[in-house]
Amino acid sequence: MKPTQPHLTERPAWEALRAHRDVIAPLTLRGLFADDPGRGERLSLEAAGVYLDYSKNRATDETLALLVQLAEESGLRERIEAMFRGERINVSEDRAVLHVALRAPRSASILVDGVNVVDEVHQVLDRMAEFAEQVRSGAWKGHTGQRILNVVNIGIGGSDLGPVMAYEALKSYSDRSMTFRFVSNIDGTDFVEATRDLDPAETLFIVASKTFTTLETMTNAHAAREWVLQGLGGDSAAVAKHFVAVSTNAAEVSKFGIDTANMYGFWDWVGGRYSMDSAIGLSTMLAIGPEHFRAMLDGFHTMDEHFRTAPFARNMPVLMGLLALWYNNFFGAQTIAVLPYEQYLKRFPAYLQQLTMESNGKHVTLAGVPVAADTGPVYWGEPGTNGQHSFYQLIHQGTRLIPCDFIAFGQSLNPLGPHHDMLLANVFAQGEALAFGKTPEEVAAEGSPAWLVPHRTFEGNRPSNTLLLERLTPAALGKLVALYEHSVFTQGAIWDIDSFDQWGVELGKVLAKRILPELGHAEPELAHDSSTNALIRRYRQLRGP
Ligand code: F6P
Repeated sequence: MKPTQPHLTERPAWEALRAHRDVIAPLTLRGLFADDPGRGERLSLEAAGVYLDYSKNRATDETLALLVQLAEESGLRERIEAMFRGERINVSEDRAVLHVALRAPRSASILVDGVNVVDEVHQVLDRMAEFAEQVRSGAWKGHTGQRILNVVNIGIGGSDLGPVMAYEALKSYSDRSMTFRFVSNIDGTDFVEATRDLDPAETLFIVASKTFTTLETMTNAHAAREWVLQGLGGDSAAVAKHFVAVSTNAAEVSKFGIDTANMYGFWDWVGGRYSMDSAIGLSTMLAIGPEHFRAMLDGFHTMDEHFRTAPFARNMPVLMGLLALWYNNFFGAQTIAVLPYEQYLKRFPAYLQQLTMESNGKHVTLAGVPVAADTGPVYWGEPGTNGQHSFYQLIHQGTRLIPCDFIAFGQSLNPLGPHHDMLLANVFAQGEALAFGKTPEEVAAEGSPAWLVPHRTFEGNRPSNTLLLERLTPAALGKLVALYEHSVFTQGAIWDIDSFDQWGVELGKVLAKRILPELGHAEPELAHDSSTNALIRRYRQLRGP
């Protein structure tokens, strides 16, 4: 793909937004709402069954028009089309980016090097479904003939965060007679705690790794093999019944000792952080069953189609991406808080951290020159209402601007007395309090002594989006994930960066490999900087012989 011209900060819309920022900065959400009583309904959008209220943003119609103009001048439309066509838009790795093919219907056709990848996707999905049915029904037996009741997914990054987030999110649809665990960290505690109460005879390991070379995953997979063999009398034939692999690397899977008949593949055009709906989602399918898994894929696809076809001004992922960029680039906001008012989404912010920050934490453009503005904001968050009793203080009264995304559902999966109304009252109250605050006059009118008034004042004007869905279903989860994937895409396209590589994780891996053999020996002489040398020496003393 040709780099977008002209450069980011020279695009007319960018220059106009820079000037426009000074018009918006003194305006308040109080004023904007007072001047336009219909703003709350007007600046909202319903698409793919998701309702987005974006009226509590520090933006006017002109802001939104300029942001849309920026998207157009940045070639967003062509980028979207190039992605859906299977072009190699991951320039630095020379790969197509086709997670949208993972959820395309059977009848669709997307060609990569002349091959319809949608057919391949459905072949793998069918094999996964067959395997999932066998395990869930008890037809698949362990080495000693016992039914599999425990599934342990071993993977890291995109091979862990998606599966664990989806398992937690969709737990209410899962087979409760089965236990699901997730091991990712190289810290041995992760493996030991995940397996300590499990019976190897009833346990299936999914080794999930795109490359099948990742240090953490392979080390944990070897520990799992030892654990199974020790528990089942040392017969290596047990591996075939207790291990399956999810990978793009058949050669390494065989080398590990897993029969490739027990391997579920995917392709180099699926990025790790975009893979929870590929075979990497095998643990999800085992937990919720193939039908729910397919419903989740349909949810993804509905949002994909909205993103591909809706005009930018009515396009939910585009609007969310543009608003995130507005605060990031024109208000100096460094972070965005994602605050799901749904306990089942407790791992959603952690999942989004890889999706957003591994994608858009980039310092050069596609052409390899330094990017002219700040790129990816830090995404973080916790489920409400817990966050309210922890860090919300800073969002309400701190000195930083922190745009918030609230996520809520009309119906609880666990109706319990007044809980859900209370939960929703809280999410609506937070958006209202952030936007409109409480003036010194209002505080004083309540009888606060003068000296306390500043402490109790909320200046407001703090922006938020609210996403409201009917119910947390597999389809709803697919829509939400796709919404954020495409919001990330929108931002990356405007910054003209490669949102699909991750070179920034390499250096640490290389240095760790070099340090590892140095930890157990006094020789050879250490040749790092003085800080690293001193830390290694201190560790040698602490670790014991
Ligand atoms: O940390 C870098 C990374 O490559 C991620 O992008 C990826 O999701 C993770 O490691 C795991 O990689 P793999 O699936 O190949 O084990």
